[in-house]
Amino acid sequence: MCGIIGAASSRNVGKLLVQGLHKMEYRGYDSAGIALHQKDNIFNLRTLGKVSLLEDEMIEQRPKSKLGIAHTRWATHGKPSKKNAHPHESGEVNIVHNGIIENYLELKEKLVQAGYTFESETDSEVIAHLLHQHFQSKGDLLAAMHEAIKELDGAFAIAAIHIKDKNRLVVARNKSPLLIGVGLEENFAASDPLALSQLTNEFVFLEDGDVAEITKESYQVFDRKNSPISRDVTEIDIAVNAVTKGEYSHFMEKEIYEQPNAVANTIDGKLGDDDVLDNIFGLGSSEVFSKIKRIQFVACGTSLHAGKVGRFWFEQIAKIPCYVDFASEYRYRDPLVEEGTLFVTISQSGETADTLAALRYAQEKDYLSTLSICNVPTSSLARESEHVLFTNAGPEIGVASTKAFTTQLAGLMLLAMSIAKSLNKDKQNRKKLVHELRNLPKVIEETLKLSNEILSIVPNIADKHNALFLGRGMFFPIVQEGALKLKEISYIHAEAYPAGELKHGPLALVDDQIPVVALSPENTLTEKLVSNLEEVKARGGTLYVFGGEKAKIKIERGEYIQMPECSELLAPIIYTIPLQILAYHVACQRGTDLDQPRNLAKSVTVE
Ligand code: M6R
Repeated sequence: MCGIIGAASSRNVGKLLVQGLHKMEYRGYDSAGIALHQKDNIFNLRTLGKVSLLEDEMIEQRPKSKLGIAHTRWATHGKPSKKNAHPHESGEVNIVHNGIIENYLELKEKLVQAGYTFESETDSEVIAHLLHQHFQSKGDLLAAMHEAIKELDGAFAIAAIHIKDKNRLVVARNKSPLLIGVGLEENFAASDPLALSQLTNEFVFLEDGDVAEITKESYQVFDRKNSPISRDVTEIDIAVNAVTKGEYSHFMEKEIYEQPNAVANTIDGKLGDDDVLDNIFGLGSSEVFSKIKRIQFVACGTSLHAGKVGRFWFEQIAKIPCYVDFASEYRYRDPLVEEGTLFVTISQSGETADTLAALRYAQEKDYLSTLSICNVPTSSLARESEHVLFTNAGPEIGVASTKAFTTQLAGLMLLAMSIAKSLNKDKQNRKKLVHELRNLPKVIEETLKLSNEILSIVPNIADKHNALFLGRGMFFPIVQEGALKLKEISYIHAEAYPAGELKHGPLALVDDQIPVVALSPENTLTEKLVSNLEEVKARGGTLYVFGGEKAKIKIERGEYIQMPECSELLAPIIYTIPLQILAYHVACQRGTDLDQPRNLAKSVTVE
């Protein structure tokens, strides 16, 4: 979950590498480092903390170099420290690594016996020593890389430089994203195209087992049999303003306010006058959907919450049973696959290791087909699934997922409608939904206007240690999402419950120190929910309720915030917005680093 970058150029690369690291800080930000090839040595600088600290040191030291590698870290093996930061050195070799080397203890033992000394607690350091060891016999960095990766088990994206190779960078990939950026008189490598967005728009995505050598003039990719291979060049325009905060204080705030547009982009071109269009999940998808009997969703975190809402829609609209699993658990329970089951992964990044591993596991099973709902078209998940719907939310930088979630929900609704259409179910409802979906961006705009009202309750939550979130039916996953948002960026402990469960335990927590946040939309469960909230009131609890006009409950302690009128089925999307705004402002008030909360990273590319 770290970010790696490398450059071979005819200009100085130090500044370019640090700029690239800044753009990848969402992947990890507990330490950073850089290695630059100089005349007869390698300049190696590592700092604890964010990339800006590395940048400050670079400004002071001003090293010059036309070949280098750099890294921003999210600690897995070994605490965040200068010693554990990359690049790791072994004699004349320097490397950066993203991923996890599963057999590192075994390799470390062998390398220690061979006389190598380890400076860090990381798994990555074995790569530096292995490369050094193989360089002794091969005399060439590329050949050493080919040999070294044969010994590695696990996930890796590696970039390496050697003192004796002043023009060449060598990289390797297995189960961890890595690409080459093609420039003019310069070429790059990075774990994310975003890192190179100001340098090029031409990318070559490496595949598992690939090794590549990169110089300023050219690059060459080799497959796992060491044969030279040509990989396609993909053009991607990453708008520069998509990766800056603009007028907003944080990326999360910007991304919350981008939701009307993001959702409009998700549904754009997918709807006809009265129905969803055919094959919006790729050629032949409508035909596959006509054979579906069940759905298996697999995802992590926020994306999992989207799947949990999706389950209600699939059962109501497409009338097919749905299962939802944590990606990290799914393949370890030896799942039974029923005939006609569509395997669906949901992921913003498309690089989440658990989700990707679940997809690869599912490919070996008897699923009808695989489909992903994903925000990054070039991601591994998108490339490896048979059918894909891109959410088109634009880059999401804040670690806390916001626009990715609401666009995933819009994508799931399109999927439920497409399957219902292929199965000839619920035509009337689909017609209504087409109009409601078209109107959705407007209702999101309306909801964003609640920001001031929400701000008024923020001080009453920001000074607490715990919070309880309640919802029912398809709003239970929404309150789970609200609780996740609050805890990840404000560090307030937050738990979500289906409101009916309250009396089975969590009611014992209710006192005047625990704010209870509840969603009370107008639907068949409204009365039941209001009774559950009365139970909170009777115990002196403080309620903050977001609800519809008719679902109003009289509140003595707390606040009732009235939501705009909206479609009953799409209401989960709308009710997500105030919970995002609430979490955002509570975190602002507590002064946390909310775009890069402690211990977390945006893209979790390790299991
Ligand atoms: O990229 P993905 O959607 O696969 O990521 C899954 C989770 O890691 C992610 O949603 C995480 O829970 C977010 N930080 C939540 O805000």
